[in-house]
Amino acid sequence: MRILGVLRSSVSIGKHIDYYSKFSPSPLSMKQFLDFGSENACERTSFAFLRHEVPVRLANIMKEINLLPDNLLGTPSVRLVQSWYLRSLQDIIEFKDKNAEEEKTTYDFTDAVIKILKRHNDVVPTMAQGLVEYKEAYGTDPIVSQNVQYFLDRFYMSRISIRMLLNQHTLLFAGKVKVNPAHPKQIGSIDPNCRVKDVVMDAYENARGLCDRYYMNSPELQMEEFHGIHSFIHSFIQDGSPTVVYVPSHLYHMVFELFKNAMRATMEKYGDSTDYPPIRAQIALGSEDLTVKVSDRGGGVPLRKIERLFTYTYSTAPRPTSMEARAAPLAGYGYGLPISRLYARYFQGDLKLYSLEGYGTDAIIYIRALSTESIERLPVYNKSAWKHYKTFHEADDWCVPSKEPKDMTTYRSS
Ligand SMILES: Nc1ncnc2c1ncn2[C@@H]1O[C@H](COP(=O)(O)OP(=O)(O)O)[C@@H](O)[C@H]1O
Ligand SMILES: [Mg+2]
Repeated sequence: MRILGVLRSSVSIGKHIDYYSKFSPSPLSMKQFLDFGSENACERTSFAFLRHEVPVRLANIMKEINLLPDNLLGTPSVRLVQSWYLRSLQDIIEFKDKNAEEEKTTYDFTDAVIKILKRHNDVVPTMAQGLVEYKEAYGTDPIVSQNVQYFLDRFYMSRISIRMLLNQHTLLFAGKVKVNPAHPKQIGSIDPNCRVKDVVMDAYENARGLCDRYYMNSPELQMEEFHGIHSFIHSFIQDGSPTVVYVPSHLYHMVFELFKNAMRATMEKYGDSTDYPPIRAQIALGSEDLTVKVSDRGGGVPLRKIERLFTYTYSTAPRPTSMEARAAPLAGYGYGLPISRLYARYFQGDLKLYSLEGYGTDAIIYIRALSTESIERLPVYNKSAWKHYKTFHEADDWCVPSKEPKDMTTYRSS
């Protein structure tokens, strides 16, 4: 009987996944996020939106998980992640036909949301563990690696977006007090006047703490701020410093990763000296972009390798021991850059690395200056996504250079 019950529920959950995956996710703009949290913020509106949108986002990505190679899907860690997604989809679908007017409904919903946030806390390391298990058992294959990279970018982006929605809902509606006591001016996790310099300073100080612990010393910071002269820009300047409507924790995450990388490169290159070239941070505000550039003189990376730095699990640092992991290591998982780039892209920005090998590296975070342009960038499950996993990658359409130059004498006219 029990087995039958489980079977029946997995058949019906399959139907729900099919149903919800046919909808495209609806990207929200920063302005829409703010409206949800404005004076007349309405828990019922948020509830009605989320009980449809969250299953849509979950189902879209669950369809893609299913396209991963069977051997990867079969690893204990990936199965665990899948079970979390199934449970959470079920938890939200419970509310499909509930009456939004009843206080108990919205109360229970907020409770369910908090539970889901907790359940999915460890998705990133667990998925990473699944990849390790797969590699240990089956080795690596360039096509699988390419598909996995494509998948992880979309999977983690989807996760960032779902957590953003759920997080906003709990910050705004869980508990009686709508104001976040730690950040009274924020609307949920969004700061309408996020002073970029403050976040950069904070990230630098914390990265420096780690660096001091690891290397007994750390490079200084030189910070500069610039802004254009448009009148609109002036409304974003506070005491001479650029501000932006943004999620400070996302910005912090990105800059913190860049500082850790810049510090490690600097310390590794100038290991024995007592004088380190400083790290430079530049913040600029224009009519479209808010840009943060972090520059180091840590020796740089050859162009050939730059793309590789954004692949998951690529790291030149030794993998932290579990003891170090608990104490937040300076480097070693290789997730710093790829995840930071997702945060930047999530609101239509980007993160790029330019290096001068033999000298140092510039890492640049681009953020949309206008909140109307900051719109979620979300993966959608459709035919083109499906094709990515199914097509065999054809031979390259550029010549492969041979190591030795051809013997040109054979072409000489007689
Ligand atoms: N500023 C930099 N200078 C030189 N190498 C860098 C820099 N930033 C990143 N890298 C290289 O890219 C790799 C991946 O970086 P990241 O994704 O942050 O993972 P991790 O720091 O855990 O190794 C690093 O191990 C390092 O080899
Ligand atoms: Mg790093």
